[in-house]
Amino acid sequence: MGVIFNRFSVPLQSITVARFADMCCTFARTAQSVSIKLKDQYMIIAFGENSLDKLEELLLSKYLLAKYFILVDTNTSEHCLPHLLETCESLQEAEILEIPDGEDSKCLEIVQQLWGGLLDSEADRESVLLNLGGGVVTDIGGFVAATFKRGIDFINIPTSLLGMTDAAYGGKTGINFHQLKNQIGTFTHPVGIFYDTVFLETLPNDHLRSGTAEMLKHGLIADAALYHQLKAATAGFAHDFDALLEKSLHIKMAIVEEDQNEKHVRKKLNFGHTFGHAFESFCAENGHHIHHGDAVAAGMIAESYLSAKKANLPALELEDISHFLTMSFPKVPFEKEDIPTLLQYMNHDKKMKYEQLQLPLLKAIGSCEIFDSVEVSELSEAFLYYLDSK
Ligand SMILES: NC(=O)c1ccc[n+]([C@@H]2O[C@H](COP(=O)([O-])OP(=O)(O)OC[C@H]3O[C@@H](n4cnc5c(N)ncnc54)[C@H](O)[C@@H]3O)[C@@H](O)[C@H]2O)c1
Repeated sequence: MGVIFNRFSVPLQSITVARFADMCCTFARTAQSVSIKLKDQYMIIAFGENSLDKLEELLLSKYLLAKYFILVDTNTSEHCLPHLLETCESLQEAEILEIPDGEDSKCLEIVQQLWGGLLDSEADRESVLLNLGGGVVTDIGGFVAATFKRGIDFINIPTSLLGMTDAAYGGKTGINFHQLKNQIGTFTHPVGIFYDTVFLETLPNDHLRSGTAEMLKHGLIADAALYHQLKAATAGFAHDFDALLEKSLHIKMAIVEEDQNEKHVRKKLNFGHTFGHAFESFCAENGHHIHHGDAVAAGMIAESYLSAKKANLPALELEDISHFLTMSFPKVPFEKEDIPTLLQYMNHDKKMKYEQLQLPLLKAIGSCEIFDSVEVSELSEAFLYYLDSK
């Protein structure tokens, strides 16, 4: 495993257009940008076809003399970097930092190599790191930027659906540690996020599916119409995908704005993640990689079961969620005998407070509340429910 440092040397070319998804969606790619204030810092958020022009404007207006570094992984280097460099004149001299693609790169070893690379290239406090990739690149890139020389500015350009709907926005940066998800990290916001769904044209379908899980989560916790529209899109009914993505993102933005450091309402965004992270850690330990969104989808089935038990989620809604998610996402491979191990992973979860597990649970599709006291025996029941779900 290693980081490659170089200047861009591959000839510029247009990215190839690939199959989008089994979902029946069209792209509107209408351009718009907003400036929002979080933690006394302004952040520019731009959507749509011309969003990278807005990036160029930001670089010229605020970072004219800065040294630019672009973090990519093996795939975004091939599929996304040419488009970025074609669009942003200012980035022609940028230093490229390339990491191997995949979750394994979200580790301390790669962070050290990136810190070392920035030092060797004489990055200073005024340097800017642009993270071009999915959630792995924006999580590790954000962490490297937040910690290098006590913090340099960074910009996120998400290229996966999961990155767009969730990971790039919200200020959570970090890496995995000791086989546990996201144990080390910071809350640090990028100075800008630039969304262009053209990048999704080369994203493999299994990663589109994984990203859809986080969009469904936003619908389940806050917007029943979004959940049903996504279900319809998956079943082949046409939808403007950009509109659904924006709707999903706005849910996250509203929640983060209210509670940036995850003291209360932001915990709702963890719906599906307590079980999901346990599934991810368990599978990683057993050498079986599962996508983050697939793990979250499985987690949402288990946590919907607990929602019916403790938060009065109607039985028909539980059945709807459970059936739809089981049909749409791969089953996580584990047996009844593995439940104690899965519970141990939950023990390390950051959501444990005074020996009790805090969980966001659904009162109904589109409505969520935080519950403080979920017992271990109930967690086991939820794993069993997931094993039996059809
Ligand atoms: N910080 C947060 O708030 C937050 C929220 C949710 C998830 N996450 C983290 O995000 C990570 C998962 O994100 P992800 O699913 O984007 O994973 P990822 O970054 O590994 O990307 C998925 C795969 O798609 C490839 N890829 C990305 N964009 C591409 C493109 N346009 N064309 C072709 N290939 C492309 C990547 O190289 C990778 O192989 C997890 O580590 C998770 O913990 C963070």
